[in-house]
Amino acid sequence: MPALVLLGAQWGDEGKGKATDLLGGSVDYVVRYQGGNNAGHTVVVGDQKYALHLLPSGILSPGCTPVIGNGVVVDPSVLLSELSGLNERGVDTSKLLLSGNAHIITPYNVTVDKVTERFLGKRKIGTTGRGIGPTYADKINRVGIRVQDLYDESILTQKVEAALDIKNQVLTKLYNRRAIAVDQVVEELLAYAEKLRPYVADTVLVLNQALEDDKVVLFEGGQGTLLDIDHGTYPFVTSSNPTAGGACTGAGVGPTKISRVIGILKAYTTRVGAGPFPTELFDEDGEALRRIGGERGVTTGRDRRCGWFDAVIARYATRVNGLTDFFLTKLDVLTGWEQIPVCVAYEIDGKRVEELPYSQTDFHHARPVYEMLPGWNEDISKAKSFSDLPKNAQAYVKALEEMSGAPISAIGVGPGRDETIEINSFL
Ligand code: GDP
Ligand code: IMO
Ligand code: MG
Repeated sequence: MPALVLLGAQWGDEGKGKATDLLGGSVDYVVRYQGGNNAGHTVVVGDQKYALHLLPSGILSPGCTPVIGNGVVVDPSVLLSELSGLNERGVDTSKLLLSGNAHIITPYNVTVDKVTERFLGKRKIGTTGRGIGPTYADKINRVGIRVQDLYDESILTQKVEAALDIKNQVLTKLYNRRAIAVDQVVEELLAYAEKLRPYVADTVLVLNQALEDDKVVLFEGGQGTLLDIDHGTYPFVTSSNPTAGGACTGAGVGPTKISRVIGILKAYTTRVGAGPFPTELFDEDGEALRRIGGERGVTTGRDRRCGWFDAVIARYATRVNGLTDFFLTKLDVLTGWEQIPVCVAYEIDGKRVEELPYSQTDFHHARPVYEMLPGWNEDISKAKSFSDLPKNAQAYVKALEEMSGAPISAIGVGPGRDETIEINSFL
């Protein structure tokens, strides 16, 4: 019963889509367990490039069943347009399974996300504006709408009424916006019901039966460890649990079933949106990482903030996720630097600190302590084995592995499926 979790070890956009797709050919199920269409996972297959937001990256592997678990928040219009976009490109999406317990991102959740950010002004989180936070807030407040509610008009109407009761007061009296009509929302949601029906399933049962039958299940995280609502740089986080435990609650699979937890780790660091980022660069090196790495958001088109590799964060990710392996991505982007700085510790108020500080104030004051590693100039994008890499690139990988606390079992040297060096097998 091999169940693997694959998740972001930094602030998202580490290359989870590519890594998932790479394994997709050898696994039976790929499951999204949290987040929603705030995610943007890029997969390059041959000369085709796909940007997936809500669908698990396994959808591109014909033998694999893609699953949207109960922990995901689903915008039905985005899901349906993603499905039709893939169908137009000849991808078969008929195997998709959608949990009846997944919560729906309603139009009013999207409105509340945008209005709240606007009113936060300078203190905004820089969300993707997709309604993620407000939908999870409704879930926790027990006024959420679930996929299964689309199939009972009376219950749906009552629930939308309950959800809009207070929201309309806030929208009209506090934010000076128009009230949202219950009937209109119900009508819009009902229009999705029949289109989604073929996919709706008891995904908890399906996945647990699959594990009993020795099928291979891969859980694909959205976002990343430092964006986790509990373990990230709160409040500059997303509203779900991308960390490994989230796979259990977000898919209904017990922790004893998880055999491997793979952290996707970029060879440098990026972040989108607001919040602390100790190794962030504001100079031409940062600009070069952005340009060479193509660091522009798949979902919002925003430029990603770029900085050097931060080993303190990688160690933290190993610990909070119980990582068994790393998949190091985008090593090729670092080709051409004479020396590559790596953050090995922080200096906080004059003291050297080796581990991520739990206090937000301390983290905001953290200054990176750098060690310089020698760079390389050779093109590494054709490397197929570790020994094909130049000596300095090998030493860079080994140094990161030692600092980060888990073996680096694969290395990405380009965006394509085959531009990967596999060191230890994941299955
Ligand atoms: P995700 O959100 O974690 O799936 O990552 P994104 O798709 O948002 O961003 C990662 C970007 O890096 C995508 O454009 C990928 O095609 C690309 N990518 C992934 N792995 C590699 C790699 O090893 N080298 C290079 N050059 N690009 C990569
Ligand atoms: P993938 O899966 C990078 C960031 C947003 C913002 C914060 C909260 O592609 O790695 P939200 O809309 O989730 O409430 O925004 O989280 N964020 C991401 N950053 N990659 C992502 O997904 C992200 N999803 C959300 O920029 O700072
Ligand atoms: Mg992304």
